[in-house]
Amino acid sequence: MNLLTQLRSLFEPALTALAPDPAKVPDYLGAIKPSSNADHGDYQANMAMAMANRAAGQKPPDVAKAIIAAISANDILEPPTVAGPGFINLRLKSEFLAKAVQGIATAPKLGVEPAAKPRTFVIDLSGPNVAKPLHVGHLRSTIIGDALVRILRLLGHTVVGDNHLGDWGTQFGILLYGYKNFRDDPAFQADPVRELARLYLHVRNMAKIAEGEDEDGAGNDAIMTACREETSKLHADDAENVALWQTFMPACLEMLRPIYERLGVKIDHALGESFYNPMLPGVVADLLAKGIAFESKGAVVIPNAKGIIPQTEEEQGKEDPPAIIRKRDGAFTYTTTDLATVKHRVETWKPDTMLYVVGAPQALHFKTIFAQARRWGYESVEFQHVQFGSMLGTDRKPFQTRKGGVIELMTLLDDAACLSLQKYEANTAERRSHGHDITDLDAAEKSVIAEVVGVGAVKYADLSQNRTTDYVFDLDKMTNTVGNTAAYMQYAYARCRAIFRKGEVDEGCFRTNPPKVVITHPAERALALQLLRFPEAVENAAADYAPHIITSYLWDLAKSYSVFFENCPVLKAGTSALIDSRLLLVDLVGRVIKQALDLLGIRVVERM
Ligand code: ARG
Repeated sequence: MNLLTQLRSLFEPALTALAPDPAKVPDYLGAIKPSSNADHGDYQANMAMAMANRAAGQKPPDVAKAIIAAISANDILEPPTVAGPGFINLRLKSEFLAKAVQGIATAPKLGVEPAAKPRTFVIDLSGPNVAKPLHVGHLRSTIIGDALVRILRLLGHTVVGDNHLGDWGTQFGILLYGYKNFRDDPAFQADPVRELARLYLHVRNMAKIAEGEDEDGAGNDAIMTACREETSKLHADDAENVALWQTFMPACLEMLRPIYERLGVKIDHALGESFYNPMLPGVVADLLAKGIAFESKGAVVIPNAKGIIPQTEEEQGKEDPPAIIRKRDGAFTYTTTDLATVKHRVETWKPDTMLYVVGAPQALHFKTIFAQARRWGYESVEFQHVQFGSMLGTDRKPFQTRKGGVIELMTLLDDAACLSLQKYEANTAERRSHGHDITDLDAAEKSVIAEVVGVGAVKYADLSQNRTTDYVFDLDKMTNTVGNTAAYMQYAYARCRAIFRKGEVDEGCFRTNPPKVVITHPAERALALQLLRFPEAVENAAADYAPHIITSYLWDLAKSYSVFFENCPVLKAGTSALIDSRLLLVDLVGRVIKQALDLLGIRVVERM
């Protein structure tokens, strides 16, 4: 049940009959939108101006009136009104809202309908470089990517998540060099994860690479040259280095596991760069054989449409970029690996769409990949770089610790949990001082709250930003218990559950046999409308790959709920019909909040 879809179907016959240009009807239908100002109604239909423009001699207000007259009799709308230059203001009938909101209590997925044309998506997310501490950029990719997986799945699409691990790069040269020269055998036997982490940092320190700085092209030359030689040997199938790489890999993956676990993120596949290594010569040979790639000064390149051949990787043009797929020294590039990845994904999962949830700095790389993949024959696949901005510190510089390095993620989550617990305790004390009767929870339950709220805070803060902009990582702000934060939504959820506990009401029958909803107060009406708009939020978030549309929705819902809560007593509503009606609204608020947070990968607790 999507309100907007219902309104559009109501308008469609009228517009088809009146449109000067019937091909434009979908555009005209697109001009039905939620009102930005509730005083003007629930929705607005703004197509009259465009239609009048196309039919010379007609005035928009007259066209608007004609549209209204052509809409068939229905139980959905109050009589529409025309305002200003031809806006049609739409107000839904309260009885319609009451019935519809009762309907979502038993509807699958709270009214969210499966997509009319389910698609298959492959989502490239997370992609950390193993053997290194996780970078905050990978944190963003993990959180945003996971939310997109969940949102698209709720709409019935087939979604394959794939973690394109960086498991073949320079960091392994560092590990190999460190292992060969400085390893502590007993330490490696006892705890390979810890020993490898130590070796990695040890070599980086020796090479004087600053924390957070990329090792490619940085640091003391002699040491880094030795490391790069180890990487080259690995890539050239050197038996010793390959065997060592195989020993290191489980430990490297083990370093990542606790982070994914803590974030509650499960990714279907983790086909890293190493997986594609054996395919790279074949990719280059195929592109050469098809006349798409050419040898140029010992390298293999794909020129762009204008025939421009790049001499270096940096030289790739802005539009329709050319690419280097094998360097003069025989090494394959990040581009070659990504082309092999496209081929493998298409052959394995046959996706309609491939999304790459990767930071904005790689925009040119993906432009290159998409252009070359199309040239190579993958034209029917839709490619999208779902890019995001950087995380900044409160000083508005790239997010860093005091030491100048990128903070390790686990510490960051620990801090978030710790601060959340402090704020929880303060909040509880404050509510108690206002005479609220709050059960004292035991330490175990409190530590669950700290974790759920803390991790939720980090995710929510990230997802509530328009993903393309940079955002400031402010632990204090994101753990606040009021405002558009995870904690606020989690409290709102717990508050819904508390009402059922307090009234000793079992919510079961509200979900199987919901009572009639009666609308007696504007706050009830506004809340019912907001609940019914959940499917709209999910569809819009999916269409723009924009999880922040879900958080904006949650914020509006929470505000409506709070107005309702202040104005409409629930357990003391007077008549049992009104009590039941309000309990149903409360139960639905809880269910929608929980479902919406779940789309963001954020958990709730039953009481806090
Ligand atoms: N490991 C890469 C990095 O850290 C991200 C991988 C993105 N995915 C891809 N298919 N290239 O920059």
